[in-house]
Amino acid sequence: MNKTFKRTLITSALPYANGPVHIGHLAGVYIPADIYARYLRLKGEEVLFIGGSDEHGVPIALKAKAEGITPQEVVDHYHAIIKKSFEDFGITFDIYSRTSSEIHHKTAAAFFRKLYDKGEFIEKISEQYYDEEARQFLADRYITGKCPHCGNEKAYGDQCETCGTSLSPLELIGPKSTLSGSIPVLKETKHWYLPLDKYEPWLKEWILEQHKEWKANVYGQCKSWLDMGLQPRAVSRDLDWGIPVPIENAEGKVLYVWFDAPIGYISNTIEHSPNEWEKWWKDETTKLVHFIGKDNIVFHCIVFPSMLKAEGTYILPDNVPANEFLNLEGDKISTSRNWAVWLHEYLEEFPGKQDILRYVLTANAPETKDNDFTWRDFQARNNNELVAVLGNFVNRALVLIQKYFGGQVPVCGKLTSYDKQTLDEFSRVKNELENYLNHYHFREALKEAMNMARIGNKYLTDTEPWKLFKTDPERTATILNISLQITANLAIVFEPFLPFTSEKIKKMINKQGWEWKELGRVDLIETGHVVNTPELLFEKMEDEIIDRQIKKLQDSKKANESKKYKTVPVKADVAFDDFTRLDIRIGKVLDCIKVPKTDKLLQFKIDDGLEGRTILSGIASYYQPEDLIGKNVCFIANLAPRKIKGIESKGMILSAENSNGQLVIIQPEIEVLPGCEVK
Ligand code: 2FM
Ligand code: ZN
Repeated sequence: MNKTFKRTLITSALPYANGPVHIGHLAGVYIPADIYARYLRLKGEEVLFIGGSDEHGVPIALKAKAEGITPQEVVDHYHAIIKKSFEDFGITFDIYSRTSSEIHHKTAAAFFRKLYDKGEFIEKISEQYYDEEARQFLADRYITGKCPHCGNEKAYGDQCETCGTSLSPLELIGPKSTLSGSIPVLKETKHWYLPLDKYEPWLKEWILEQHKEWKANVYGQCKSWLDMGLQPRAVSRDLDWGIPVPIENAEGKVLYVWFDAPIGYISNTIEHSPNEWEKWWKDETTKLVHFIGKDNIVFHCIVFPSMLKAEGTYILPDNVPANEFLNLEGDKISTSRNWAVWLHEYLEEFPGKQDILRYVLTANAPETKDNDFTWRDFQARNNNELVAVLGNFVNRALVLIQKYFGGQVPVCGKLTSYDKQTLDEFSRVKNELENYLNHYHFREALKEAMNMARIGNKYLTDTEPWKLFKTDPERTATILNISLQITANLAIVFEPFLPFTSEKIKKMINKQGWEWKELGRVDLIETGHVVNTPELLFEKMEDEIIDRQIKKLQDSKKANESKKYKTVPVKADVAFDDFTRLDIRIGKVLDCIKVPKTDKLLQFKIDDGLEGRTILSGIASYYQPEDLIGKNVCFIANLAPRKIKGIESKGMILSAENSNGQLVIIQPEIEVLPGCEVK
């Protein structure tokens, strides 16, 4: 839809305050949001950029218990670290607040109360596990037991981490409370549900018909949720950490963290602009854009809009440009395995080098698919792009002006056709770049910004002013004047992407205050203006610095492996006859897809030498389904069929767990025919 907007409200996912932030957060959410906010501000548009910490939810309560401190202490600690990391990286939030604030508690409670009073919730009584010793209802994560699907003894009440199946605590065999270790009892409890099914037809029209322009990954995920059909979702929990459900007789109940967190965007706006927050949230001429990672799509595209719709007075997001995930050196970023580059640690080791990371993470952003951060790529992009292109051009332009004109901007004489051609090329790039920025294609936009620096570099290399000065000082003056105008343009164009560098360029040019609309102009600096002594913008990154980072990661992997890898004791003996009752075979993978709505399940179509069969396996975290097609796998052929997520699985694919906790499929050493027995 083509609407005319007067202002833009940018929100970025509120990170959980139970750990510091890493490069994945920065690449997926905060850098793109910051680029967009800075770009719009430079254009002189009215912008509000909201951030904050998400401070409720079970993991925070669990962490506090494990560490013997209060949840408030946990979030106070991490909120401060996260906030500082964002400041250090130049993320220009207009406000970075938190959901444990009083204003947020009030706003979220009032939001709930309004929906409650309007009759928008369904009240349901269900049976849930209760720990009689700890005297509290148990959140799903507080209960462990045996997975009915794969037999994992340590499955959680919401999911079995081994086979990936989403569970309800009632499905666990032999449930135990993690609070007291006791066996929980079932007790009736009441909760409030948002009937998402009621919003389904409207969501289908609003997203699938009216927002076809959303990114393919976002649109696709919404479509698959909507195609599968929506169910009512509980918006309250039995927990002692969170915002109390604001109605009578609701002791011990708090708002579900995913109900209160997005309201945090509103609370933080109120905190920032108590008198005009409604302009940002209730005026159709405000463009609302949510920057998030892919795991948050359903909440921002389906649940939160339904909440806003139910409330009735709010605007809805115009776009949700969610990113995919960033991996690190070929492996999933993982907090618990310490497989991450933490922002605060990066800055300790690379002080003042925020822009290199901002550059690499944007150039390699997971905009359309998961992407990989590697230290070698970091080094290469620094050396071959930042140093060799951008830094080199700016340095040459400024050094030459110092050398030949004592730092005073020389007169620009008549332009040659080559000069004109260079400037035309420049304005073509400017148009492309704006188009990319307007459509949230930040990595392409950055590429174009870099092309502007390339144009400058090529111009200097082709015109060789250092060879002309003696014979034609006027032509040298013209070339260097143009080069300096290009340098000023680079200060403008890189401001959203590399703000620290842009600032440095402006200091060296000794001038600032340009707006985006001046991009492309060649009269940004007047003749006679005196520039400052240049300094290098970037330095070459030597191998040993990078080797150290790689080693640090390898060490953390090793430390983790030695912590984690324990050979499990051998199970009780089985009789030979019992063994032979197991029918293990080799099959060939004909097709493999991810099971929707699960994180870990893959659905295999296996050529078993007979009529073929479907098998589900919980290894989606470790493989791309398409990579498995054509492979041989080993499977148990006579395991009684089971239905998982409505799909009948006939058999089990065998895999081994490596020391990294990764499941790897077992394959025959050489090709064998599908259906052959493993003996
Ligand atoms: O996934 C997360 O890290 C959540 N804390 C994001 C919340 S976004 C918003 F709803 F606050
Ligand atoms: Zn399981």
